[in-house]
Amino acid sequence: MIEKAPTRPADAVTVTGVDKVFSTGKGEVRALDGIDMTVSAGEFVSLIGPSGCGKSTLLRLIADLDEPTVGEIRVFGKAARRARVDQDYGIAFQQAALLPWRTVEDNIALPLELHKVGAAERRARVAELIELVGLGDFGEKYPDQLSGGMQQRVAIARALAEKPNLLLMDEPFGALDEMTREYLQTELLRISAETRAAVVFVTHSIPEAVYLSDRVVVMSPRPGRIDGIVPMQLGSPSSRSDDIREDAAYFEMITAVREVLHGGAPIPKGVETR
Ligand SMILES: Nc1ncnc2c1ncn2[C@@H]1O[C@H](COP(=O)(O)OP(=O)(O)OP(=O)(O)O)[C@@H](O)[C@H]1O
Ligand SMILES: [Mg+2]
Repeated sequence: MIEKAPTRPADAVTVTGVDKVFSTGKGEVRALDGIDMTVSAGEFVSLIGPSGCGKSTLLRLIADLDEPTVGEIRVFGKAARRARVDQDYGIAFQQAALLPWRTVEDNIALPLELHKVGAAERRARVAELIELVGLGDFGEKYPDQLSGGMQQRVAIARALAEKPNLLLMDEPFGALDEMTREYLQTELLRISAETRAAVVFVTHSIPEAVYLSDRVVVMSPRPGRIDGIVPMQLGSPSSRSDDIREDAAYFEMITAVREVLHGGAPIPKGVETR
């Protein structure tokens, strides 16, 4: 029998031998096949791959919004279900999904209200979060009075409300223009450095994945498998600024991820293959 490596509590996420098969009216869809990966505490890991390769499915399994068909997922050493109950992570998706009848402050306060945090503590925490995402003057506005980028910042603040040690993000900047997107990427690096939260970040954009991540997990089309895990040799994400977008090392990392994504080319040095 093969001994499983013990899960270190220091790991934010461990995914071990995970398959996900959906049963549909037209038969079965094998969305994920033999997924193994680990995200360390405080680490920023992006998932990249073609449409339909199972990125959102994998994120939903980590968030316990669905269950693996085979295999195991642990979050900070706990079963994914337990981690959900314990509010160990915050979630932000492509659409900000704010409640239109609530102000910015009240949207951010929602998870705190649901978990019966007292009014004074709630107000203090919301004020802190609004500052963190740079929306100081907008607390009393309603979502339809904000731009898409500002709405996304509210969604990130809401995801951070309960000081999670892990953020799960599914294309949170996908609907934004390029300039807003780059601005929010830099903001996210600052926020994740300040909160020291680990992040699992789904994206279609190679430059976005490279700029943000410690490691980039490259997935192949159905059934979704991991083709390679590329460590970004760009220093810690918390020390990066916009300037690296013009560095040779940044372009080398973009090329390394492209080569694994498109296959065929020799695997670049330092890439963990599957
Ligand atoms: N609830 C479901 N029932 C049946 N099939 C599903 C379900 N959810 C996902 N799938 C299928 O699983 C596969 C992976 O879907 P998933 O949404 O994870 O892909 P993705 O990598 O996030 O794609 P995209 O980049 O377009 O968002 C797809 O073939 C999809 O049709
Ligand atoms: Mg998706």
